[in-house]
Amino acid sequence: MKILITGGAGFIGSNLAKRLVKDGHEVRVLDSLLRGNKLDKSTYDSVQFIKGDVRDLSTVTEASKGCDVVYHFAAVLGVDIVADNPVETMDVEVIGTRNVVEAAAVNNIKKILYASTSGIYGHSAIENALTEEVLVDPRTSYAMAKRYNEIYLASHHEEKGLNVISLRFFNVYGENQDNRMVVPRFFEQALNNEDITVFGTGQQTRDFTYIDDTVEACVRLMDVDGCHIVNIANEEEWQIKDLAVKIKDITASQSSIQYIEAPKRRYDYEVERRVGSSEKLLHMTGYKPNTGLDEGLQKIYATNYVNLNSIL
Ligand SMILES: NC(=O)c1ccc[n+]([C@@H]2O[C@H](COP(=O)([O-])OP(=O)(O)OC[C@H]3O[C@@H](n4cnc5c(N)ncnc54)[C@H](O)[C@@H]3O)[C@@H](O)[C@H]2O)c1
Repeated sequence: MKILITGGAGFIGSNLAKRLVKDGHEVRVLDSLLRGNKLDKSTYDSVQFIKGDVRDLSTVTEASKGCDVVYHFAAVLGVDIVADNPVETMDVEVIGTRNVVEAAAVNNIKKILYASTSGIYGHSAIENALTEEVLVDPRTSYAMAKRYNEIYLASHHEEKGLNVISLRFFNVYGENQDNRMVVPRFFEQALNNEDITVFGTGQQTRDFTYIDDTVEACVRLMDVDGCHIVNIANEEEWQIKDLAVKIKDITASQSSIQYIEAPKRRYDYEVERRVGSSEKLLHMTGYKPNTGLDEGLQKIYATNYVNLNSIL
């Protein structure tokens, strides 16, 4: 298959590109390099890399020419970055996705897999793990734009028969992630023996999904037709304070764990509980994420940090 990944130089995109190249696909990456380039050398050498902006229609049309499938992952993200740049966040989402859809029509592309987010669930009450049927509650420009795009893509399935899959990722973590996200931020603080800073009581929960499991789900969903919204979740609910303790233990750090008040601009993001159900994914693909948090953290410590630590 010929596959375009927008945002393919980012954390999830670069890991997906590596896997798709390994599987023998012809991979093209379109990325503005806003967050640098996370593709390793061998993957970078194996893909066709296009530096460009998804907000530019001609760039997206050119980049997707001849492709069978597009993984549309380009986005502005990170709580602080989104809070500081709500307009750019929405532009990249809304204009970028509109361009991907327009380009798909011109280039006769049959399928788009779009990176949505579990952030869409917002403060939706959860007695049980969140399923795709739960009423969504997007609160931020980022989550609202993601939800808008899910609906926009679904309308193109209805009207034009485009196959569209919106992937609701739940806190993906793993190799190559940068410290906009909590897992690498805690690792960095722990390895520097600085305070590990937890917002609020640390009792808020998240569902951490390991990158290889996320990539596996993305790859399997490439074979699914139709219009679907699919959670990609590990189905484990962890308190953030437990994450801090685990990372402190794994790194044998001297850090202390400090509980601090979250900056006001993070309030909309400070969801108390989030855990997802991957039953639909299992039903559709025969697969669901299965790497436990301890195992995932050990893996990224071994690959990302152990050598680094012995050099320092
Ligand atoms: N990481 C997570 O836990 C998570 C959770 C939910 C949803 N998502 C979604 O998954 C996708 C990938 O996330 P990630 O963690 O790899 O983020 P990332 O920031 O590492 O990757 C995003 C990539 O998009 C590129 N980009 C940004 N603006 C662009 C533009 N205008 N044109 C072209 N490229 C542009 C960036 O340079 C970056 O390489 C995003 O759509 C994100 O919203 C991620």
